[in-house]
Amino acid sequence: MSTHAPRAPEGPTTMPTPPPPLAGTTTGPAALRPLIDTVLTALHDGAHRRDGPLPAGGPDAVTPRMRTATHPLIPDHGTGPHNALRTLVTALTEGAADPADPLCTAHLHTPPLALATAADLAASALNPSMDSWDQAPAASALEADTTAALAAEIYPHQPTPDALITTGGTEANQLALLLARERNGPVQTICAANAHHSITRAAWLLGLPQPVVIPAPTGVMDLAALDEALTRHDHPLLVTATAGTTDTGQIDPLADIADLCATHGAELHIDAAYGGPLLFSPTHRGKVHGLDRAHSVTLDLHKLGWQPAPASILAVPHRHHLDPLHHQAPYLNADDDTEAGLPDLLGRSLRTTRRPDALKIAVTLQALGRTGIADLIDRTLTTAHHLADLIAKTPTLDLYDRPTISTVLFRPTDADDTTVATIRRTLLTRGQAVLGRAHTDNRLWLKATLLNPHTTPDHLRTLLDLVNQLANDLAEGNTPR
Ligand SMILES: Cc1ncc(COP(=O)(O)O)c(C=O)c1O
Repeated sequence: MSTHAPRAPEGPTTMPTPPPPLAGTTTGPAALRPLIDTVLTALHDGAHRRDGPLPAGGPDAVTPRMRTATHPLIPDHGTGPHNALRTLVTALTEGAADPADPLCTAHLHTPPLALATAADLAASALNPSMDSWDQAPAASALEADTTAALAAEIYPHQPTPDALITTGGTEANQLALLLARERNGPVQTICAANAHHSITRAAWLLGLPQPVVIPAPTGVMDLAALDEALTRHDHPLLVTATAGTTDTGQIDPLADIADLCATHGAELHIDAAYGGPLLFSPTHRGKVHGLDRAHSVTLDLHKLGWQPAPASILAVPHRHHLDPLHHQAPYLNADDDTEAGLPDLLGRSLRTTRRPDALKIAVTLQALGRTGIADLIDRTLTTAHHLADLIAKTPTLDLYDRPTISTVLFRPTDADDTTVATIRRTLLTRGQAVLGRAHTDNRLWLKATLLNPHTTPDHLRTLLDLVNQLANDLAEGNTPR
């Protein structure tokens, strides 16, 4: 080892730049405050620039504008936090399809509540990871209580219902099929033609036989066809029913399906991704009567629950039904840690690192209470009925059916499918409205999925005026621009 100390460099010394501040500990909030202010200003300015439900011009306008804002995405020397936040958040907001705009009503794409979004900021700042207690001491307790409380809403008569937090209905449906396979072996899934595509993909992913798809001629599972399929196919059988279909928002006859499953010794999973939250409304919960008879239930709160995605659960009637997901990774849940009382969280998901999505959900439940959530649901369903009324009263429009939840399908009378598709795309390209599309009853329909509790009758009239005007123009042979 040298006995000489290294010589200090000559000339003025430059202090190294400190690393950017972190979000946590006692210093994080002070660092975050001005950054959040920049973000909020950018959200405001971007929304003003867009001034509508989505940007006009389609991909030809939106993509280059976003590219300009992002260029260069990885500069040699950074532009600084305020600059980058201002530039990118403003551009993203200007180019967003904003579900909080009443004319953005295509999908089960919810406008998140401000309070849930604020809670999500805390989740990002603290960054608990839900795969081990030493990364999420309080968050693991909050998640356990939140999942137990939600599971008890679905299974009020069971002593130990439980639920897993998932990234969405897709993951929840996958877990449902996985748990059924672990309980029973390679189950034959039976679903109706109205089931979400994630059921078929889950069977494919899990190496299960392709689902038997039975007809849903009125939009819901046909009971006679189900009876016949349950008779014809070999056990083990898993029926998946839907409470709130993606295309029409209809609800399968859950109690009758549960009866048939019981008669034939089949298990039942209910995909209530959309309709599950109706449980919170005394006015509408009767529509999901029979939910508690399922072996598992998917429920999304980033649909009819006004949460920023992801916020979803898979609920089961008995905690031990989740046992097959138990998994050991000694760095996360060593036996001696578990024996010493540290909660073992790894088996509560197939994921490892996992966000504390329970926080925004719990904040929302506590802030609004049962009556507040019920009020949001009731308002939203009332708005959907109002839209249906307006359509029914408009001679130039056809209504598919009264809404069961908040999906309303309609189309200009006498328009062909190509015209319906053109109307939808033109409204998108002009930045005027975001409507969905659904093919049912051998025709293409415009789909409005109402999830915005602030939507007023005036907004609905504007939406219908836009469709009528465009249908008129097209009927007169004008090419839309
Ligand atoms: C009935 C139904 N189930 C499952 C899903 C999938 O949910 P996610 O998009 O949250 O994965 C959807 C999505 O719209 C749905 O409509």
